[in-house]
Amino acid sequence: MKYGYFDDVNREYVIQTPKTPYPWINYLGGEDFFGLISNTAGGYCFYKDARFRRLTRYRYNNIPLDNGGRYFYIKDKEGYYSPTWMPVKKDLDRYECRHGMGYTKITGMKDHLETEILYMVPLGESIEIHRVKLKNTDRVVKEFTLFSFIEFCLWNAYDDMTNYQRTYSIGAVEIDNGTIYHKTDYRERRNHYSFYGVNHPVDGFDTDRDAFLGQFNGLHEPEAVIEGKSKNSVASGWNPIASHRIEIKLLPGEEKELIFILGYIENPVEEKWCAKGIINKKRAERLLEKYNSSDAVHHAFLALKEHWSQLLSKFIVQSHDEKLDRMVNIWNPYQCMTTFNMSRSASYFETGIGRGMGFRDSNQDLLGFVHQIPEKARERILDIAATQFEDGSAYHQYQPLTKKGNHEIGSGFNDDPLWLILAAIAYIKETGDFDILDAQVPYNCDPNNMGSLLEHLEKSFDYTLNNLGPHGLPLIGRADWNDCLNLNCFSVNPDESFQTCENQKGRRAESIFIAGMFVYIGKEFAGLYKRIGKEDLARRVLHEAEKMKDNVEKYGYDQEWFLRAYDFYGDKIGSAENEEGKIFIEPQGFCVMAGIGIDNGKAQMALDAVDKYLNTSYGLVLQHPAYSEYKLNLGEISSYPPGYKENAGIFCHNNPWIMIAETLLGRGDKAFEYYRKIAPAYLEEISEVHRLEPYVYAQMIAGKDALRHGEAKNSWLTGTAAWNYEAITKWILGVRPDYDGLIIDPCIPKDWDHINIKRIYRGVEYNISIKNPEGVSKGVKKVTVDHKEQTGNFIECLDEASVRNIEVIMG
Ligand code: BGC
Ligand code: NOJ
Repeated sequence: MKYGYFDDVNREYVIQTPKTPYPWINYLGGEDFFGLISNTAGGYCFYKDARFRRLTRYRYNNIPLDNGGRYFYIKDKEGYYSPTWMPVKKDLDRYECRHGMGYTKITGMKDHLETEILYMVPLGESIEIHRVKLKNTDRVVKEFTLFSFIEFCLWNAYDDMTNYQRTYSIGAVEIDNGTIYHKTDYRERRNHYSFYGVNHPVDGFDTDRDAFLGQFNGLHEPEAVIEGKSKNSVASGWNPIASHRIEIKLLPGEEKELIFILGYIENPVEEKWCAKGIINKKRAERLLEKYNSSDAVHHAFLALKEHWSQLLSKFIVQSHDEKLDRMVNIWNPYQCMTTFNMSRSASYFETGIGRGMGFRDSNQDLLGFVHQIPEKARERILDIAATQFEDGSAYHQYQPLTKKGNHEIGSGFNDDPLWLILAAIAYIKETGDFDILDAQVPYNCDPNNMGSLLEHLEKSFDYTLNNLGPHGLPLIGRADWNDCLNLNCFSVNPDESFQTCENQKGRRAESIFIAGMFVYIGKEFAGLYKRIGKEDLARRVLHEAEKMKDNVEKYGYDQEWFLRAYDFYGDKIGSAENEEGKIFIEPQGFCVMAGIGIDNGKAQMALDAVDKYLNTSYGLVLQHPAYSEYKLNLGEISSYPPGYKENAGIFCHNNPWIMIAETLLGRGDKAFEYYRKIAPAYLEEISEVHRLEPYVYAQMIAGKDALRHGEAKNSWLTGTAAWNYEAITKWILGVRPDYDGLIIDPCIPKDWDHINIKRIYRGVEYNISIKNPEGVSKGVKKVTVDHKEQTGNFIECLDEASVRNIEVIMG
């Protein structure tokens, strides 16, 4: 069942009912200021950090779920309702929500009054605009009252929901000329305040929640709205809010536009006050002034649209399949940008309080956005590298505000360092910026201890070599990519985290996944050394990768597939000998990606086993069979009920590794089958099963052992976005940047006969037409560049042209 449709021309998903199976959200903002907004206007906004600078309140485990946001109420003689449906939940005559690139537009029509609200963050500003368009489509005059409503968060979101003995005494506001200023804590150490204003005289206001709602009322029944009268309340402690009241009269056919602005201001310390106790409002007033006209807002909206057109112009496919096109051209890169902005911090599943930036997450996310924002990718790589320790190990997470490693979680996830090499290489292949390798970067953020980025990469590589186990395979440490495979943890205390608890001392638990990664990344790293003329180092790295490959073939292969690990005792995990967890997806992906077993049939056997044991109608499960009980020697993976999360859920992040592996075997039909199964646009018709947004990937879809097989959880902030983008653009469609040009090597379903791709690469536009007259999956027979035939499928990037036309004939 569908709840809306894709409007590809406008790059929007259009939701036609407020009653989606779960709140379907979008993100506003792209630089310093961000908002999360659901299809019924729920959510919150923050400046830079969702924990320390949260402007508005949001309760994560609320009843009903998504209750709290930027709300409007319309009150007339008949009663009252919300044009975004929530929070009043009165039926509307027409409802529509358009989630677009960085904006959301919700329209609610009732009794011939049409209200369209555009929510957006203009480029370069730390404000949310709520543009309310009201139109009387009736033949009679309409008189009604409009109320706005937001609830302030007292900045630190964690304190805000835990520390009432303090917070109930500190809330403070000022009301000035219809604008409501939230200034809690400003009298002491905060130099920032927020404000909510409107470009229209107000007839009343409220800033105290109890006064506006009534002590015993919910958001769906504010006393002020029911009575049609604001209380003009001034908050003093308790729960500050901002609500404006505006009386409106519209003639038949008449339209009116109101612009509400919710903003964040930081004042220099010496400019904090304009009089004792009165905040300096100059900066806010300037913004209210700047966006007080429909024209200004319209232009800001067009600029935002143009900004996204630019970002999304780097890779455009035109195929016979509109679902594929909308994933590749719009929604997948859009989600990748969101993971760049948010990492894993704030979504409807991540509260913005807990995790910072993941070391491995951020490196992998980069694969998905490096071509859109190369300069920011460069900065991101250097930030990440700066948190690395001198022995090559890494903090598992770092804080976005301070960019320092997170002590609480520490290090010991032994895959972490290797991802840095992958990210750096992806960046150089996209940009040709080899200079980044010479950039001086601190270790552990200590400016007195620096090394070049290249040294950091060497240390990453050597970290694995310095931490090998009895089979010459990498020690897993706390965990590898699979955070929940905790082989040294043996936790019996329900109150401790699997990720941080004291591990038993042992150097036996080994990861075949890291081994595969090491070989894959080792070959890439050798390529980089070669390209920069360091032949000796290239040979050394390649030699180590070869040795690891041999060890994997010797000790890391079961009868028909790659093993997953050796546990604390040296016993096999992910083997046919095991009763549960016989086969895991991750090593099948990465070992084949590394080329292990391709020449001797082992790779093909492994991928056939994936198809046989892990494939379901909703994607590939992580392992099989699921663990039916908690196992001390396995850790968190066995703590999840069968079919969920890492315990045999469809953990979408790793499915593309299998897609890529399939393309290396030339099996384009399989690769695309796996792609289609989890790509959200293809799931739109089964939204009642999938439940989450049909325009973005979710981290997990319940596996075949789960009661609710096919149901997704944790949408938006997941490495799934980057890896699927990687799989579809570079390996299935097959346009891959290399150090000095593009490789074109598609691996597609046999019945695709033609694809066009526009790729902007290092400033040159490549128009690539791929034809498949013989119905093959892989193989390039002929390539012409600007009508000149050339040998091989490598397109060298030469500076002179600004547009190149490439024709590729497969066969
Ligand atoms: C989740 C993982 C996550 C880990 C670290 C676990 O509970 O299942 O997906 O990576 O926590 O936060
Ligand atoms: C989510 C984490 O963010 C990611 O780093 C990890 O690889 C997966 N969970 C799998 O456990």
